[in-house]
Amino acid sequence: RSTAPLSGKRALVTAGPTHEPLDPVRYIANRSSGAQGYALAAALADLGADVALVSGPTTLRPPAGVAFYRCETARDMLAAVETLPHQDVAVCTAAVADWRPAHQAAQKMKKRTSTDVPEPLTLQSNPDILAILSTMENRPSLVVGFAAETENVLAYAQAKLARKKCDWIVANNVGDGSDIMGGTDNEVLLITPEHVEQWPRLNKHDVAQKLAMRIADWFSHKVV
Ligand code: C5P
Repeated sequence: RSTAPLSGKRALVTAGPTHEPLDPVRYIANRSSGAQGYALAAALADLGADVALVSGPTTLRPPAGVAFYRCETARDMLAAVETLPHQDVAVCTAAVADWRPAHQAAQKMKKRTSTDVPEPLTLQSNPDILAILSTMENRPSLVVGFAAETENVLAYAQAKLARKKCDWIVANNVGDGSDIMGGTDNEVLLITPEHVEQWPRLNKHDVAQKLAMRIADWFSHKVV
């Protein structure tokens, strides 16, 4: 282990969707399975990193040898991230809900008649964990975001890199028919301020290994 390329490095991975409750039984969520993030946590651990996996609700088993923190909402996820010590690298694969219901009912919302509908939903913004990690004091040396888009993938992802102040973005097209969100494969662009690389369509485990290796390379070439 001591000769493993990421030995001595702390790595944070966020993964999965978040669930944003409307009432005790209903929530807003998305199609993320967590598969890419769990695979990445395993791949970073295999390279010797000390990995913290902070995950929203998924059906996956946490990889062996990884410290696991389960959370529900975006705000829970941020709170879990904030309890961690300084991380050398952070990879935000989580599909964090951008918005949550502004009001959460304490009891199940009731349909009183067959045509009864509730008040229109009011949403409010969630904290952006990637942007917070990228700009915090004691920032991880390398912060990597993911960008799931259904159109203009490269342009939107490059804008996200600049706006959120992360170092790299892994962008993918999750449009209809791509079978990526919730699927077994991923086809990504690795975007840095200097380059754009198109990777072939690969199993998520292979994407994870390739990305973990790129992260290890970055640390080995970094002038400290
Ligand atoms: O803005 P968008 O949600 O498309 O950005 C995606 C990237 O930002 C992902 O890396 C995701 O994990 C991260 N993110 C986050 N917190 C949010 C929203 C997105 O960490 N509230």
